[in-house]
Amino acid sequence: MDTAFREQLNHYSEAFEKILAEYLQSVRFRPDILDESVRYSLQNGGKRLRPALMFAVARMLGNRIETVAPFALALELIHTYSLIHDDLPAMDNDDFRRGKPSNHRVFGEGQAILAGDALLNEAYRLCFEACTNGKTYIAAAELLCKNAGPAGMIAGQAADLYYQGRENAGKCEAEFIVVHKTAMMIRSAVTVPAIVADMDENIVALLDEFGKQFGILFQLTDDMLDVTGDFEKLGKTVGKDAAENKLSYVQLYGMEECAALADRALQLCEQVLHELPYDASFLLSLARYVRWRED
Ligand code: IPE
Ligand code: IPE
Ligand code: MG
Ligand code: MG
Ligand code: MG
Repeated sequence: MDTAFREQLNHYSEAFEKILAEYLQSVRFRPDILDESVRYSLQNGGKRLRPALMFAVARMLGNRIETVAPFALALELIHTYSLIHDDLPAMDNDDFRRGKPSNHRVFGEGQAILAGDALLNEAYRLCFEACTNGKTYIAAAELLCKNAGPAGMIAGQAADLYYQGRENAGKCEAEFIVVHKTAMMIRSAVTVPAIVADMDENIVALLDEFGKQFGILFQLTDDMLDVTGDFEKLGKTVGKDAAENKLSYVQLYGMEECAALADRALQLCEQVLHELPYDASFLLSLARYVRWRED
């Protein structure tokens, strides 16, 4: 992999770790078990892909990472809550996450539900706080919350569960799942920096389309890694989607066709990036990296 790209990606994830560490220093939840379980899931693990995307777009538009710091934090908090709940026995029943036992395996189901609730509420508090920066921050906060909610990620998760093991579900339902459970949060990552910077609506629309295609690409590779991936690299159990009868593209079309669809999503990412009047080379490399990722 291109060293300059890798260095830039590390720079963004390190910047995020610093912001996260400052946040964690500023809060202390009680009782101790709540504090511990929130920290357990937030620390030491996770690719920090969504914050990296947010920072990359902010930099591409000529702005500082700090301008979107509260939103990067809020988005990663929401993402982490979604993973804690996703792993619960009532959902995907996964015992490992980010290379460690899942939150509920350590703290119990009740505490895991509450750790997720805590992260979601904290995310909204951070968004409210950011709104004091003015109109563009209010618009960005509203979008972030909308894309994470019942018209976004939660809708995708509800559909993912509903269609599990159900017959007569096909392409349309599988697409709904991917576009909502994964792509909506990624759309927030790439549009929030443009909204904060009060960019022209055409730019926001192009970034939104990029986010959608990148999100599809990301979930298709996640589904393929569930078949061919390595536990050590992924930090989560493989083979679960087939075992749980998930309605995924892999299940619907098979690996080969799923790979072709991932190629198509990457192509669409590249097309949209070429239309942007900015140097989008980092985003281009990131999309290519996601197509061939192993973790
Ligand atoms: C996992 O997301 C959930 C999906 C949308 C497939 P990530 O693969 O980004 O998880 P972390 O944050 O790196 O653990
Ligand atoms: C989950 O999709 C997407 C979320 C919104 C959490 P998956 O269920 O495929 O994610 P993994 O494979 O458990 O990370
Ligand atoms: Mg799931
Ligand atoms: Mg899962
Ligand atoms: Mg998966």
